[in-house]
Amino acid sequence: MEVGRLINYSPERYLESMMALRTAYGRDQRDRDPAYYQYFVAKVPDSALCEPGTDLRVLGIGSGSGDVDSAILKKLLQRHNSVYNRVVEPSGEMIERYKTRVREDTSLGAVNFDWRQQTAEEYVQTKDDTKFHLIHAVHVLYHVEDLDATLRNMWEQLADGGYMFITIKSGCWWKAVLQAVGEVWQR
Ligand SMILES: C[S@@+](CC[C@H](N)C(=O)[O-])C[C@H]1O[C@@H](n2cnc3c(N)ncnc32)[C@H](O)[C@@H]1O
Repeated sequence: MEVGRLINYSPERYLESMMALRTAYGRDQRDRDPAYYQYFVAKVPDSALCEPGTDLRVLGIGSGSGDVDSAILKKLLQRHNSVYNRVVEPSGEMIERYKTRVREDTSLGAVNFDWRQQTAEEYVQTKDDTKFHLIHAVHVLYHVEDLDATLRNMWEQLADGGYMFITIKSGCWWKAVLQAVGEVWQR
């Protein structure tokens, strides 16, 4: 079994592994260094991404518990009055955590969330003709079955002039993860 496909074969083991990784880091993602979020927030253009008076449409692939996504949304809300955010995330546990965050954080009140508990591959089978002004996938694409097809599908869902960004560790991702954990262990 390929490590990146674990969520497809055993969501429970995937979740357990992710929690173990967080523990190894010694902190929950919610407590990540603000500079970590800033890296992603800085990728979001400072300009308005759609015409005034229209809803900004955002698609998040593999949003997890919304740590990064919500930081991005907050930046977008500085320029846009209302945002439609479609969340594609296969883990029910992660979606529940994200929903809790949304309930607790009133600054996300102008965001209309559309929760899709699906993998990117499942989502592609059900997607409609909605075009998005911003599509992102942060540390997710290690898990998809067909990277080329997923990237192509994401691109096809972009509105004219829309933006897409992905974050992925280059090289052998699991070695990078082990190295990252190793750094923490050396502290
Ligand atoms: C490393 S986490 C990143 C979460 C979030 N983007 C962040 O940066 O905090 C990877 C996420 O991708 C989700 N995922 C796993 N396989 C997926 C797939 N095939 N399609 C979409 N999301 C997937 C997992 O459930 C998990 O929440």
